[in-house]
Amino acid sequence: MLLLYGSVFAALLLSAVAESEFGQCGGTGWSGDTTCPSGWVCAALTAHYSQCVPGISSVASTTASQSATRATTTSAAPTAAPTVGPSHATGKTPALGWNSWNAYACDINEDKILAAANQFVSLGLAKAGYQYVNIDDCWSVKTRDASTGRIVPDPDKFPSGISGVASQVHSLGLKFGIYSDAGTQTCAGYPASLGNEELDAATFAEWGVDYLKYDNCNVPANWSDASTPPGGDWYNSNSAIRYRQMTAALDATGRPFHFNLCIWGNANVWDWGARVGHSWRMSGDASASWSYITSIITTNVQHLDSIDFYSHNDMDMMEIGNGDLTIQEQRTHFAAWAFFKSPILLGTDLGQLNSTQLAIITNPELLAFHQDTTVGTPARPFTPTSSAPTTSPPEFYSGRSVKGTHVFIINTGNATSKTFDFAKVPGLGSGSYKLHDMWTGKDLGTFTKSHTSTVDTHDTAAFLVTPARHGADVDEE
Ligand SMILES: *[C@@H]1O[C@H](CO)[C@@H](O)[C@H](O)[C@H]1NC(C)=O
Ligand SMILES: *[C@@H]1O[C@H](CO)[C@@H](O)[C@H](O)[C@H]1NC(C)=O
Ligand SMILES: *[C@@H]1O[C@H](CO)[C@@H](O)[C@H](O)[C@H]1NC(C)=O
Repeated sequence: MLLLYGSVFAALLLSAVAESEFGQCGGTGWSGDTTCPSGWVCAALTAHYSQCVPGISSVASTTASQSATRATTTSAAPTAAPTVGPSHATGKTPALGWNSWNAYACDINEDKILAAANQFVSLGLAKAGYQYVNIDDCWSVKTRDASTGRIVPDPDKFPSGISGVASQVHSLGLKFGIYSDAGTQTCAGYPASLGNEELDAATFAEWGVDYLKYDNCNVPANWSDASTPPGGDWYNSNSAIRYRQMTAALDATGRPFHFNLCIWGNANVWDWGARVGHSWRMSGDASASWSYITSIITTNVQHLDSIDFYSHNDMDMMEIGNGDLTIQEQRTHFAAWAFFKSPILLGTDLGQLNSTQLAIITNPELLAFHQDTTVGTPARPFTPTSSAPTTSPPEFYSGRSVKGTHVFIINTGNATSKTFDFAKVPGLGSGSYKLHDMWTGKDLGTFTKSHTSTVDTHDTAAFLVTPARHGADVDEE
């Protein structure tokens, strides 16, 4: 979570309807709309990215602390900061799982977490590859244990303790994740880990935690970033050092942790994230809106070079099942997160998903692209024909998997006829190709020079494109 607290945030999420809520409203190179809906304000999260956020008082303080992270002081070179990297015993491919926040915000308990774990099994999600069952903010009591200094699980919400919940999740063959924050308190005001990294990491390891989401609220003023980090390398920024301290503490436990940096796209995290964790948030919190989906794709396409094995831009947790996204928008949400190799953490009450939604999130071919262990890089935009208009975000993407070349087409507008020339797809030529629909698992036939398909407004088409016969992927003209 980023800006808001508990039930206030939940209420706002439920009432979120206007297109540009949580949408991009400014930043370097931004030429789109800079206005926000009534009651919302445009907050600069980084120089690259401003976002519409609810205009309530808690936002003002966060916005102020955000601008404090761009104070013009210079800091001393952090010679003592740890440089140990994340475990490579985990996190080669992007995480697949569930997180409690988008569904329940602070209103969590053991029953809801274990219900999700059991639904992984009963709904076929575990079989499809979903693994992590993750608790977000609000799982502890408000003060640390007076004698041990440890964070104390809330006994009303978690009567079995966190270790008891973790062991029940493990007994289903799944992995278990928890949440903390690289500040003095979490976003919702619970104890956080800055300055307590070793104790908290040891505690999480003892409880059997496999995944840590590490948020960015309540950062003390003396941890502000200089406008230019030491040596010009954002790995040496105070923001990065707050996260590096936790990487070292997790490493010292000897237990492999999947480490997610919930740093909201600050401090050029895409440049150094893989030296510190397995995935890193590219923006503020998601909302269940088409404008969020298009704005995070627009942001992400600027930073695709940072994506590979053990190194994943996090486009934030899934909103499938929440709000009023159309089924086409839900398909695009899933397909784009899959072809950009973002972590996919479902964020809804899984028991409420209908069969169409379950088919989307368990689509075997998109999940195989996402979890491919031979190709770590994401799909990238390409220009589909010589006369194609430029759109933001781009509509046409291609990428490779162990099976060959894939083409993905997001319809960001209203025209439903989408054409691409094979010769424009990196790695293909102008000959004949077989097209296979990744959504339906059906072969569509053989096509020469180009392919035209019908893609609904806000839907995404997904194809595997293979040479029609051996050697046909060279130009036959
Ligand atoms: C900020 O102050 C705390 C408490 O004195 C100290 O432990 C920490 O190292 C300081 N951070 C920086 C970046 O100087
Ligand atoms: C599931 O819900 C979506 C809306 O989110 C709807 O478009 C779709 O038709 C529903 N599917 C079934 C089988 O009811
Ligand atoms: C699509 O059509 C809707 C309704 O007619 C219109 O409001 C919107 O501006 C159109 N979008 C584009 C990208 O042309």
